[in-house]
Amino acid sequence: MKYNIENGAERIVSRSPHVETNPMKNKGRWHEIFGNNNPIYLELGMGRGDMIINMAKQNPNVNFIGLEINENQMVNAVTLLRSMNLKNIKLINTDAKNVADIFANEIDTIYLTFCDPWPKDEDEKKRFTYEAYLKLYDKIFIKDKKHLILKTDNKGFFTYSLESLSAYFYVFNKVSLDLHHDNIKNVMTNFEKQYAKENRPIYYVDARYPR
Ligand SMILES: C[S@@+](CC[C@H](N)C(=O)[O-])C[C@H]1O[C@@H](n2cnc3c(N)ncnc32)[C@H](O)[C@@H]1O
Repeated sequence: MKYNIENGAERIVSRSPHVETNPMKNKGRWHEIFGNNNPIYLELGMGRGDMIINMAKQNPNVNFIGLEINENQMVNAVTLLRSMNLKNIKLINTDAKNVADIFANEIDTIYLTFCDPWPKDEDEKKRFTYEAYLKLYDKIFIKDKKHLILKTDNKGFFTYSLESLSAYFYVFNKVSLDLHHDNIKNVMTNFEKQYAKENRPIYYVDARYPR
């Protein structure tokens, strides 16, 4: 069944204890919200949240925040979380372009996983690795420290992202042109599980500043 506002998606999402319905009021206070000083990892466009939820299960000493614009996907994530008593994960239903209104310099790592590649030139500004987005990320990363992990099945978007990150002074800690056959620790997203079945290569970069 597809949920939408008419049949209750909004209610399901807003009532979940994992969802922050007014995230802007937490700007600069996310460690306080989690009740600890553990690092905070943020995934933009988490979809139904498979990766971030499993990472939260496996890493109790890290705080995770999943952000997603689509309410139906939020319902899937909230439903997955319902039976789990995880204290180290929060979800936010908003557009990624709002990140600098939601976070101060408090994010340790940003995950961009299988985000929309927007292949047409006129859509470049919508790509999550477009320079304006990288500038926004600077406002939310811990001061003078950037760490971004990107996974995609789209070669064009990957090439574009490497160029954009490199021009923005990121250095590449690890690059893989076939993540699932390289020895890199990885938790799969929902899209990624499908691509793995099709044996499609997954492109991966772990980019930082400074090295
Ligand atoms: C191709 S899906 C990938 C989902 C998930 N990361 C995965 O790998 O299974 C891209 C997701 O990004 C979300 N998205 C697209 N634009 C967004 C934006 N501006 N802000 C937040 N989420 C966005 C979409 O709703 C969709 O769930």
